[in-house]
Amino acid sequence: MNLNQEFLEQNLAGKLIGHELHYFEETGSTNDDAFRLGVAGASEGTVILAESQNAGKGRLQRVWHSPPGANIYTSIILRPSFETARGPQISIATGVAVAETLNPYCGGRAELKWPNDVLIGGKKVCGILAQMKTLDTGIDFVVVGIGINVNLRREQLPDEIREIATSLAIEAGCEISRSEVIIRLYENLSKWYKELLNCGFEPIRRAWLGMSPMVGKAVQVRFHQDVISGTVSGLHDDGALILQTDTEQTLYVSAGDASIIKR
Ligand code: BTN
Repeated sequence: MNLNQEFLEQNLAGKLIGHELHYFEETGSTNDDAFRLGVAGASEGTVILAESQNAGKGRLQRVWHSPPGANIYTSIILRPSFETARGPQISIATGVAVAETLNPYCGGRAELKWPNDVLIGGKKVCGILAQMKTLDTGIDFVVVGIGINVNLRREQLPDEIREIATSLAIEAGCEISRSEVIIRLYENLSKWYKELLNCGFEPIRRAWLGMSPMVGKAVQVRFHQDVISGTVSGLHDDGALILQTDTEQTLYVSAGDASIIKR
């Protein structure tokens, strides 16, 4: 079933996130659209939603597979009035909001993998790409891009990701209403965003650590040719993963792909 723009607009009227909805049947990347709207002065909580993307962007210059009819591709403009260094807290909070949104559909099995992948049963169901525009005085706006595999069937997953990716429907064993997921997602993101603005990073850090199987485990973080290993001991205020090495050094890792080392 296609996304129902009218139903979404009715349900999102007056909400912090979603009061202004830009819907496209097809676009390049909702993040690019959101960035353009942000530069043009779009208000906080403006959302872009697309049925498909022909240039969907992932982290580390990857492509995000974005076929029509099955998934969620959305980008949200936020304008937090805090210093630039706290920008990554927005994507951490988004990961928590997404996992909380997916949990009712998958028996509470959603997990968070640093920096901001959401997994079910160890397979990726959602990716988050945050992009920030700064001013001399701090953050101008953050675009939070969220891609969720909702009703994609296993055979529709490209070969190269079939073993490492999943969808909500594969995990739930039935088709899921994308509109319902979108409305819950914006609601949960509003809640965690307000928590971040009003109470600081601590509640988000606690929630994230509680949903991540990486905590206390030996992990490996790859960034291009470099590989760093250590045991995860926490999450820094700037979103960096904190590792303790075998030589008792503390490392702060701010970019890369992390995986748990199987012993
Ligand atoms: C990742 O690599 O895990 C991040 C993927 C982010 C994909 C989403 S889909 C909506 C938004 N628009 C994009 O082009 N990318 C993000």
